[in-house]
Amino acid sequence: MRHLIDPTDLSLQEIDEILDLAEDIIQHREKYAEACKGKKLATLFYEPSTRTRLSFEAAMLELGGSVLGFSSADASSAAKGESVADTARTVSKYADIIAMRHPKEGAPLVASQHVNIPVINAGDGGHNHPTQTLTDLLTIKQTKGRLNNLTVGFCGDLKFGRTVHSLIKQLSCYENIRFILISPQELQVPDYIKEETLLKKNIPFEEVTEMEPVIGQLDILYMTRVQRERFFNEADYIRLKDTYILNLAKLANAKPDLKILHPLPRVNEIATEVDSDPRAVYFDQVEYGKFVRMALMLKLLGLENNTK
Ligand code: NCD
Repeated sequence: MRHLIDPTDLSLQEIDEILDLAEDIIQHREKYAEACKGKKLATLFYEPSTRTRLSFEAAMLELGGSVLGFSSADASSAAKGESVADTARTVSKYADIIAMRHPKEGAPLVASQHVNIPVINAGDGGHNHPTQTLTDLLTIKQTKGRLNNLTVGFCGDLKFGRTVHSLIKQLSCYENIRFILISPQELQVPDYIKEETLLKKNIPFEEVTEMEPVIGQLDILYMTRVQRERFFNEADYIRLKDTYILNLAKLANAKPDLKILHPLPRVNEIATEVDSDPRAVYFDQVEYGKFVRMALMLKLLGLENNTK
């Protein structure tokens, strides 16, 4: 039984296959319209979400399957004290595949150990978010034409941002990647990512606190929101939340072929005037997320050849 809990659960070859399949789906949507006919996706979301949950659901519907689930812990038996393991076991009697988001690191892993259907981690606390990583990889591949030879800037909350952690891990598997990590001191990438990924693999990286001096070096700028829900105290959040606001003036020295990504939701960190700049690809990224989740579910269900 294959699950996707950590981005490194997939080999580079499998990731390439998923990205290729997503690209084929983009080109030939009708071929896949009934590929998941009769299959059910359960979305178990214990934490708020707009894009991730709806894109999973849209993906399954576009494959001809159906969806069930809940969108907050309050609306499930978690409110009565049921364990993640028991909820997952129950849902596995109704569904063929599970996408789970949970505020606690490791919850989707626990679920995967108790069921005999694939479990996909749709974000666990400040830890990982592997399907956002697939989304980000497809966006970079489609808009830059490559996943190697890139200087990638991450900006914002690099401490709690799970999308950042997963994407750093994954991009570190490609050739000639260099990272510039832009954050306040308090929100730097956790040591375990530096030790287990960047230092271990000898990936060049620098940590800076200001965006303007480095923006001209970047091929990709990955903006993130300060993760309010993971702060212990509101005063720290308020002090740090508007450290970086990307606007057109700051983009003056950026490369003309820079691509700006953001997993969304955006709060204040990108001025809306940037949205119409051709370098902004964060709303295209949303759509790539749906196609890559279609490809992932087909793979995990072994249905990638079930085409018309
Ligand atoms: C991200 C998440 O949930 O981690 N959103 C998403 O899935 N697109 C980023 C965020 O919430 O800031």
